[in-house]
Amino acid sequence: MSNIRTIGVLTSGGDAPGMNAAIRAVVRCSVYYERSVVGVKRGYEGLIEGDFEPLDSRSVKNILSLGGTFLKSARSAEFIEPEGRAKAADQLRKAGVDGLVVIGGNGSFTGAHLLYKEHGIPVVGIPGTIDNDLFGTDFTLGYDSATNVVVDCIDKIRDTASSHNRLFLVEVMGRDSGFIALRTALATGALDVVLPEKNSSLDELVREVGKGFANKKTSNIVVVAEGNRLGNTFEIADKIKSHFPDIDTKVTILGHLQRGGAPSCSDRVLAGKLGVAAVEALLNGKADVMCGVIENQTVYTFFQQAVYNKAPLNLELLRIARILSI
Ligand code: F6P
Repeated sequence: MSNIRTIGVLTSGGDAPGMNAAIRAVVRCSVYYERSVVGVKRGYEGLIEGDFEPLDSRSVKNILSLGGTFLKSARSAEFIEPEGRAKAADQLRKAGVDGLVVIGGNGSFTGAHLLYKEHGIPVVGIPGTIDNDLFGTDFTLGYDSATNVVVDCIDKIRDTASSHNRLFLVEVMGRDSGFIALRTALATGALDVVLPEKNSSLDELVREVGKGFANKKTSNIVVVAEGNRLGNTFEIADKIKSHFPDIDTKVTILGHLQRGGAPSCSDRVLAGKLGVAAVEALLNGKADVMCGVIENQTVYTFFQQAVYNKAPLNLELLRIARILSI
């Protein structure tokens, strides 16, 4: 076992359901191994400012089921600069923190890697983002909960869409990735899905919409990932309207709704597994890695690989969704 006595924990980037459950797991696992824990407020911003608070088992009571992150989160511009990271490393040393758990996504792990590389601070990551876009894990924390929210919303949209024979374009999150869009399109029986990973053409989309109405479907839903390459969802809707002036076409942007709410059962279980894996990794001398779960096994992936490799989207789901939406 390494000589790490005090472990810091922070949440960074966009919040995700399950972050609180992961903080709880990190704190309780550290206490189990008789280590002290320090919570860092507001991600890397709080790290730079030394905004720390000691945590024990009771500090994390009753947070397992809460959405958001009680430590709060931020996207820090200062931490992108070497001076910011040097200040952060100083604060950690001053507070006697020997190892850090960072719960976040792509940007957070780029920073975590540099903190380790430049200042030798052992950092281990827990993938926390609703986007599911990290290489080295089947699922990121928050993805399952967010997709459940989307499915619930689209089911509701379906009720009103079919009452009026309307076409709805529903925009879901995913700045650079279509994981949320693809999974929820299949789960809600959407007519089509527009993804960042696939060069869909407007002609293709128009064809699918035409088919839907020709097949006498009373409601048609197209799920649009925000980071798609066809453009803004309202512009896509306008283009569709120009081909089908008689089809009543509406747009719903689900936005930050998708990041809120209680974590699902799967996210809570994942949070427990990853929280324990992160603390045990630090205590076993691992650093510069993200913990993940692949086919039910805990795996560790170097931050650089987790960030630079693209998590593969299973486009077979698109084929299945299209077969089932006739
Ligand atoms: O990274 C998760 C995410 O929810 C993206 O899907 C989305 O584009 C982004 O965060 C929104 O970030 P913000 O809350 O900072 O606007």
